[in-house]
Amino acid sequence: MDFLERPRYVPMSRRRRIYEGKAKILYEGPEPGTLIQHFKDDATAFNNKKHAVIDGKGVLNNRISEFIFTQLNSLGVPTHFIKRLNMREQLIREVEIVPLEVVVRNVAAGSLSTRLGIPEGTALPRSIIEFYYKNDELGDPMVSEEHITAFGWASPQDIDDIMALAIRVNDFLSGLFLGVGIRLVDFKIEFGRLWEGDMMRIVLADEISPDSCRLWDQSSGEKLDKDRFRRDLGGMLEAYQEVARRLGILNDNERNQTTGPTLVQ
Ligand SMILES: Nc1ncnc2c1ncn2[C@@H]1O[C@H](COP(=O)(O)OP(=O)(O)O)[C@@H](O)[C@H]1O
Ligand SMILES: [Mg+2]
Repeated sequence: MDFLERPRYVPMSRRRRIYEGKAKILYEGPEPGTLIQHFKDDATAFNNKKHAVIDGKGVLNNRISEFIFTQLNSLGVPTHFIKRLNMREQLIREVEIVPLEVVVRNVAAGSLSTRLGIPEGTALPRSIIEFYYKNDELGDPMVSEEHITAFGWASPQDIDDIMALAIRVNDFLSGLFLGVGIRLVDFKIEFGRLWEGDMMRIVLADEISPDSCRLWDQSSGEKLDKDRFRRDLGGMLEAYQEVARRLGILNDNERNQTTGPTLVQ
C-alpha cells in the first residue's frame, strides 16, 4: 500500500458526492454526520423548465446563507450550519430532510396571488404558513397537515416544532431585512431531523438566500430576489449583490471577486 503517498486532504474530484440538486451539491463531510454543501451558479425556475448559469450567484448565496444561519444559531434556533469553508462551500450537519417546503408569507405574491386572486403587494392580515410536498415529479404540490400526518411525512409534534421555528425565523428575518430597507414578502425553508443518541431534534436545514425569499426594496418596490430570473427582469446578480451589500457581508474588494476571473489583456 502506498499510503505514505496519499494526500492529506481530499481533492474536489475524489470527494464522494452524495446528492446533486438544482442549486447545490452535497458532498460527504470530513467527519461522520457532516456534509459539505456546495453552492452552484445554476438558476432554475418553474420546476427546472427554465435554467441559466449566473456567474457568481453561488458565492453570494453561500455568504448570505452563512450570515443568516450564524445569527439564527446564536439566537438559539437550531440549524444544520456548522461553518463556512470557502467561497462556495459550507460544513453542515447531515439531517434526515422532512420532505416539505415550508413557506411563510407576510405579503401576497406569486402563487398565493394567482390562486386566491389577491393582488401582489397586499399585506396579509397575519403571517401565513403553507406546506408543499417536496417532490419535483409532482411539481411540489401544496398539502395540508392532514396529508402530512396521514402519509407519515411528519408527526403532529414535528409540525408543531416546524411551525414554531418557522415563526421565529420569520420574526428574525423580517426585522433583519426591515433594518436595511427591504420588505420580506415571503420565503421557503426546509427542516431536517437530527439524531443525538435516542433524541431527535427538528433543525433548520438547506439555505436562506435571495433564491428562497421574496425581497422587495422598501421604498421603490424593486425586486431583489429570484423573481428577477423567473420574470425575466434581468439584473439578478446585481440584486443579490445589493442584498449582500446592505447586510454588510461583502466588502468592496470581495464584491468584485464574485463573478470569477476576468481575462486581463
Ligand atoms: N443538512 C442537510 N442534510 C441532508 N440534506 C440536506 C441538508 N440541507 C439540505 N439538504 C438537501 O440538499 C438538497 C440541496 O440541493 P438543492 O440544489 O437545493 O436541491 P433541490 O434541487 O432538491 O432543491 C435539497 O434537496 C435539500 O433538501
Ligand atoms: Mg433546493
